[in-house]
Amino acid sequence: MTLEVAPGCKLMVSKQLGHDFSYHKAEVMAVRVSGDAEEYYVHFIGFNKRLDEWVKVSRMDLNTIEAPANNNRTNASVKASGGTSAVTNKKKAGRKRASLLTVPADGTCETPTRTGSPSSLHASDQTGLASKMTESQEDLVLNQEIEKLRRGGSMTQRIEEISRVKNIDKIEMGKHIVDTWYFSPYPTELCGLAGDSTIYICEFCLSYFGAKQNLARHRQRCPVFHPPGNEVYRFGKHSFFEIDGHKQKMYCRNLCLISKLFLDHKTLFYDVDPFLFYILTENDEQGCHIIGYFSKEKESLDGYNLACILTLPQYQRKGYGRLLIEFSYELTRREGRVGSPEKPLSDLGLLSYRSYWAEAIIRALKTEHRLETNPEPIMLDMDDDGLEQKSSHISVSIDHLSKITGITTEDILHTLQAIDALKYRRGQHVIVIPQKMLKDFEKIEKKCKVRIESKCLQWTPPVFTAAQLRFI
Ligand code: ACO
Ligand code: ZN
Repeated sequence: MTLEVAPGCKLMVSKQLGHDFSYHKAEVMAVRVSGDAEEYYVHFIGFNKRLDEWVKVSRMDLNTIEAPANNNRTNASVKASGGTSAVTNKKKAGRKRASLLTVPADGTCETPTRTGSPSSLHASDQTGLASKMTESQEDLVLNQEIEKLRRGGSMTQRIEEISRVKNIDKIEMGKHIVDTWYFSPYPTELCGLAGDSTIYICEFCLSYFGAKQNLARHRQRCPVFHPPGNEVYRFGKHSFFEIDGHKQKMYCRNLCLISKLFLDHKTLFYDVDPFLFYILTENDEQGCHIIGYFSKEKESLDGYNLACILTLPQYQRKGYGRLLIEFSYELTRREGRVGSPEKPLSDLGLLSYRSYWAEAIIRALKTEHRLETNPEPIMLDMDDDGLEQKSSHISVSIDHLSKITGITTEDILHTLQAIDALKYRRGQHVIVIPQKMLKDFEKIEKKCKVRIESKCLQWTPPVFTAAQLRFI
């Protein structure tokens, strides 16, 4: 008996990874008719969802087809509904908020904005290769998500409930055309207006359009050339703008819609009031072009210092994620606190944080070492064979490290364990940083072009009254 390719069934599908094509097991999520042929939306098992795609039957090995498992996880509909899921979760969480589905169809900001954006094109590059997740990692994320339905406006969704089919292929923003990764609840009438599913976005006010000519018309009357809010930091050609979600609702909602295109497992988009947004820009004579952002709860009862973080794909792997994270900890230190990012982290979020934490801890240890404040042992230099070569001892408690870095003691301990630097020696815990790691660290330091210049931050922690923090 030959099985029909239908949503829920699994089979081997060829996929290009790097330069090579190879077969990988995939689950069929949806079917559509394109021209006179059918196309299938497939999820490659064990790979991040951003590699999901529409494929023709010619890429499938029909001999490997497996019938759908008997469960209700399949989603045969092409018009999936992330927005509805948001509302469902919101109801579950017992909160009544305006749904983003009520934003104007063209997403235009109340504030008109200005003309003029360069037109050269740049395609984004995202392979997702580095982010292959094991099933147990996916399970872990899922369990954490179920546990952690957010009390605040930052929405966490169950993997089964979220929309499984990408609705927008590309976004065009300024001079960049970028492939999207995930579903985002843009109004359905805008998707595919110009014959493709590209959304055209004003890079300064983030208004969005279904057709290029509509964006062009908007650009002629759009007067803004930087994000709204206060510029709280400027160093070289980079700035940070602080935006209150309550005051700049439309900008922040539009930002969250963009963010959802690249963030699968959580985002906030219907409820921006409880958050501040910090937008990183690259500045030139045309204006301040958004590179990425992070959001932060005005008051986090969980001690989170960052809710969502995004570097737009055209700027990724250039050190900006690190810069955003460093900035978030700079704010936390100014507040005299310690903080941690909201969980769960995405795969890329975890990679970036792990790398930042390790670097920040080693830098702090080196600084303490230079200060030579204490004589007690804590850091040992080892040779490559793991034998103690020369010992360079300082005494520093995890609490102290936490205070000077703004990183929580839990994150410090996890990081030290992850990099295998926490050892038990002669009856006490010591941090052992091998020579090789120190050398790698020095290389990273040299390579790191963008850094936060603390003195360029003109900022005092905003204070909100109890009434201002009452969002319901
Ligand atoms: N593969 C392997 N390592 C990576 C990758 C990747 N694709 N991306 C980041 N890293 C690690 C590397 O160690 C990297 O340092 P290196 O380039 O020197 O090797 C380090 O993280 C920092 O990289 P940056 O260039 O500073 O980070 P980037 O600007 O690319 O931004 C970010 C990282 C924000 C996570 C980006 O990938 C992104 O926006 N992803 C989509 C949204 C997302 O997942 N956000 C995090 C969600 S969790 C939360 O919001 C709390
Ligand atoms: Zn605009």
